[in-house]
Amino acid sequence: MTKYQIRGGNALHGTIQISGAKNAAVAIIPAALLVDGVCRIENIPQISDVTLILKILEELGARVRTIDRTTVEVDCSRVLNHQIPLEMGQKIRASYYLVGALMGRFGWAEVPMPGGCNLGDRPIDQHIKGFAAMGGKVEVRNGYICGEVPNHSRMTGGQVYLDIVSVGATMNIMLGAALADGMTVIENAAKEPHIVDLANFLNSMGANIMGAGTDVIKIRGVERLQGGTYSIIPDQIEAGTYMTAVAAAGGEVLIKNVIPKHLDCITVKLLEMGVTVEEQDDAVLVRRTGPLTRTKIKTMPYPGFPTDMQSQMGAIMSIAEGTSVITEGIWDNRFRYADELRKMGANIQVDGKVAIIEGVETLSGAEVRACDLRAGAAMVVAGLAAHGTTFITDIDHIQRGYENLVEKLSAVGADISIVEEPDDSKPTTKIS
Ligand code: EPU
Repeated sequence: MTKYQIRGGNALHGTIQISGAKNAAVAIIPAALLVDGVCRIENIPQISDVTLILKILEELGARVRTIDRTTVEVDCSRVLNHQIPLEMGQKIRASYYLVGALMGRFGWAEVPMPGGCNLGDRPIDQHIKGFAAMGGKVEVRNGYICGEVPNHSRMTGGQVYLDIVSVGATMNIMLGAALADGMTVIENAAKEPHIVDLANFLNSMGANIMGAGTDVIKIRGVERLQGGTYSIIPDQIEAGTYMTAVAAAGGEVLIKNVIPKHLDCITVKLLEMGVTVEEQDDAVLVRRTGPLTRTKIKTMPYPGFPTDMQSQMGAIMSIAEGTSVITEGIWDNRFRYADELRKMGANIQVDGKVAIIEGVETLSGAEVRACDLRAGAAMVVAGLAAHGTTFITDIDHIQRGYENLVEKLSAVGADISIVEEPDDSKPTTKIS
């Protein structure tokens, strides 16, 4: 079994370079299906979700050329297949973006019901409502999302009011609408940075999308999109995770290749907790020397506090003086990490969507599980602060979303390594 081993207690010093945003990349790569020509996509994070989505495109007939570690060229002009293999599509949540992209390009799609993190009920009714408003009929059959436009013709512009602010539905409707006949209007749209990034990608290839980043997005369908070059924004959540890592371990780290504005919601909370955060042009300098103090957060759609940073904050609240409170406003099941933190000595009570955390003096190393991607990140953050050694299992969840986590943290002084543990012997170091 492969695990992370962390010997806690080392303060962090140095520089961490942030990679491209996962949740932008997993939408922008499928968006290449709409483009008639070669898309050169830069600042791609090297994570397993991205590898998988690129493999799915290749499976559909796209030509994918790796230019360097963070750049690929994707040419979907010869794609003819519209059916995603079950075992590939169901491994990743973002496979639902293939519905919008394939419907937009071909007027039909068959995509396995998406997988990804278990965060509770994850309906797709708002996506389906959006496609219906654009003339597409979408139903779930035999484990597949099957979408069809009459005569496999183009989608038509439509008016969609989202009952719930949904990142996925907003992006999927944008994908379906980019080549539609006429204008599509999305009201009560999500405003996350990756929504603006997808709009910028599509616009740079010739789309006509206005208002991304506000709650009304207007997409005037165009005849065709042509190839071009686009660079993905930095990952807000990866940056936020390393900010909490510094808060947990202490020290001073320059977190580079970020858009500080995207981090404001996280920065404000860390300042409240006694962490120093200095904004620079494309970096934040994070320093923690004194004790952490309590705070409270409620997760909300952007620009509110991101649900994807909730568990990492839970980890540092566990060692903050006083009583901290987290209210989860997006997902039903995002406190599964609480049981794992308790194994390390945290005092955390969960009641429905609220967690009350009484800060303890120290956490102690234990064997804990990465229940999902961000819960796994929280275990890493807690392990850096803990006395003794922490082993984290199920790290494939973490590798879905964090590029070179072990290398990045080791470079700033953390004692973290990947260990391979045969069933009946002691762990042996593999990468550090
Ligand atoms: N919802 C519906 N119906 C829908 C769609 C969503 O009721 O048709 C509900 C969900 O159940 C949830 C809320 O609306 O309660 C928000 O869901 P949203 O659609 O915004 O989430 P998502 O698109 O499935 C993305 C990220 C998640 C992140 C959320 C919220 C991707 C691939 N995933 O999910 O990221 O938590 O937005 O910001 O972009 C992660 O990276 O760890 C992760 C889970």
